[in-house]
Amino acid sequence: MAAEVISFARGAPSADILPVEAVREAAGRALADDWQRALSYGTGVGHPGLREWIAERHELEPAQVMVTNGSLEAGAMLFQHLVGAGDRVIVEQPSYDRTLLLLERLGAERVGVALAADGLDVEQLEAAVREQPATLVHAIPNFHNPAGCTLSAPKRERLVELAAELGFRIFEDDPYRELSFEEVPSPTMLSLDGSDRVIYASSFSKTVSPGVRVGYLAGPAEEIGKLAKRASEVYISPNMLAESIVWELCRSGALDENIAFVKGALRERRDALVGALREQLPEAEFVVPGGGYFLWLTLGHDADSAELLSAAREEGVAFVAGPDFMLDGGRSSLRLSFASVPAELIGEGVARICRALERIRAASPA
Ligand SMILES: Cc1ncc(COP(=O)(O)O)c(C=O)c1O
Repeated sequence: MAAEVISFARGAPSADILPVEAVREAAGRALADDWQRALSYGTGVGHPGLREWIAERHELEPAQVMVTNGSLEAGAMLFQHLVGAGDRVIVEQPSYDRTLLLLERLGAERVGVALAADGLDVEQLEAAVREQPATLVHAIPNFHNPAGCTLSAPKRERLVELAAELGFRIFEDDPYRELSFEEVPSPTMLSLDGSDRVIYASSFSKTVSPGVRVGYLAGPAEEIGKLAKRASEVYISPNMLAESIVWELCRSGALDENIAFVKGALRERRDALVGALREQLPEAEFVVPGGGYFLWLTLGHDADSAELLSAAREEGVAFVAGPDFMLDGGRSSLRLSFASVPAELIGEGVARICRALERIRAASPA
């Protein structure tokens, strides 16, 4: 067994790219200038200063925003608010595993729609919803977890049109938007929505750090008001100390500096991964992610990613097997997170995956 495990499994940055100094300074300022707010209960909408800052960044009114304890909990509250047992919810295939689980727990009927290199197959979605109405569509528009793809601008426009025509809502789950390596991302579906169908979520987990647990929801003011009431009934207010620190980072410009730094590091890791895969595993297929954390790798039909994972662990490398992100299938695919592995270890990590693949192929020749 190799000395230290190289893990492409976690959707989190390695510790060497976390902004410890900037957070330390922001925490000092928060406790000097904003300490009463930071140390008190707030309301269900979260820290007013941060709420205003987010609203301005998205060109919204503050009443259209609530700050939450990360975006996963925000999404869970949204599902509880909108989805009842038996309701049809369209999910991307593959999709974020925790979303699939939350919807299953609510008793929703999850209807899978395929992803292409430019995001959701909107025609398949339209056919599924015309056949039988859906309550909600869940979409991860930028640098998808786990697929790495990005929803094109025309597809965003079409989805928003279809939502208005066919009466479903869209949950735009967008924690990776700020982590674009090449171009400015296309407009959010929230910004295109003239019919109050879109609720948007994002997070500071990827732009500051996952441990701050600060995210937000944005959408029609009336809907946000109801969700904030639900939030205050459950937890009184989100974590005001964390939000006060994040607000300091936002208004001092340290957030934007960190985003620039993190994007540079992630881009270097993405390039190292793409290069190593092309060189060492040329038969594998993937969409080159234009940002974010993830690459979705599809191997030949003979490869079973769960079996590969067992062999990979023995070689000292980890990833997440494809079926975790699917309602069905995904057997020959796997998710590699390049956020969690420093660039200099990526080539060796891929070499270990190749060795594991050779072992399972040798054990069961086609
Ligand atoms: C698509 C997606 N939504 C939501 C989340 C949850 O993020 P947060 O840390 O803001 O709760 C993640 C985290 O990996 C994610 O990939």
